[in-house]
Amino acid sequence: MLDGYGREADYLRISVTDKCNLRCRYCMPVDIETVPMSEILTFEEVAETVRAAASLGIKKVRITGGEPLVRRNVNGLIKMLKAVEGIEQVTLTTNGVLLPEYIDKLKEAGIDGINISLDTLDKEKYKELTGSDELDRVLGGIKTALKTDIPIKLNAVSLDLEDAFSLVEFVKDKALDLRFIELMPIGYGRDHRGIPHSILITSIMDRYDGAESDDTGYGNGPAVYYRIPGYKGRIGFISALSRPFCDNCNRIRLTTKGYLKSCLCYDTGVDLKGILRNGLPEDARKEKLCSGIKEAILCKPKSHCFISEDNISEKDPMSRIGG
Ligand code: 5AD
Ligand code: SF4
Repeated sequence: MLDGYGREADYLRISVTDKCNLRCRYCMPVDIETVPMSEILTFEEVAETVRAAASLGIKKVRITGGEPLVRRNVNGLIKMLKAVEGIEQVTLTTNGVLLPEYIDKLKEAGIDGINISLDTLDKEKYKELTGSDELDRVLGGIKTALKTDIPIKLNAVSLDLEDAFSLVEFVKDKALDLRFIELMPIGYGRDHRGIPHSILITSIMDRYDGAESDDTGYGNGPAVYYRIPGYKGRIGFISALSRPFCDNCNRIRLTTKGYLKSCLCYDTGVDLKGILRNGLPEDARKEKLCSGIKEAILCKPKSHCFISEDNISEKDPMSRIGG
């Protein structure tokens, strides 16, 4: 359906857990409080929400976290969502640590794409950034994923120029798109500074002769892509601050606690968990869910306010929202 500014909302991101096996410093510090299991939507509640959302025109769903693979049987949820009428794509965002164990199950569940988050290829920096010595497992996860025919993307938050250069070198012979994500001042991200993409894009493109913008526009997401001669995949930039993409925003976000958010930046939205658990018969519940979802879509603001940080009303950490 269309939001209040005429944008088609067809994409739902779902955070299935706020827990994670890493502790990336800009996302989830060591002592963060986690949501009790009783407050987290069950898979059946998530599927019911997705059925209602699909009836309103949601076509794509992404499973996020925290780290979605730490929630038991997430492949079972993927299977459930793949079976929902109207849902054309179910994808996953993961830090890659558990991918070697999960890849066959994800394939079997019918996953349509996997985004792997990796910010640095330096073992020591990885340890410092994530609090874990898991870089080799993530690299193994990428390797295993690339052996399948599942479309793979690598997502790197732009924190350090040297790390960005190494990642660009790393992907040269790999059939995947590498996307740099500008650090957003959400949650603990507010206390960190990344590299502005105005600088990162020119720094990378200046290093490669013949690099040129690739605006074939497949995938209508927020990334702007470039091609480097000799590269199998593309290099993309998701620049929420340097180049806001709100005019094409097509997404809503279901938090771990079942709150449907209208925009990453604000706390505006609708509590769907309250509706899911209000004891109404299924038909009446579906009607209420649909009106809740419609309300959240109609509340979508024209744009985010990352540039004027004082206006950011979202107080939840990224691990409950799912990026
Ligand atoms: N800004 C940008 N990206 C972030 N992520 C987590 N916090 C932030 C932030 N403040 C990213 C993770 C991962 C995805 C789930 O969200 O690195 O790629
Ligand atoms: Fe975990 Fe992802 Fe947050 Fe890192 S960014 S702590 S991998 S949820």
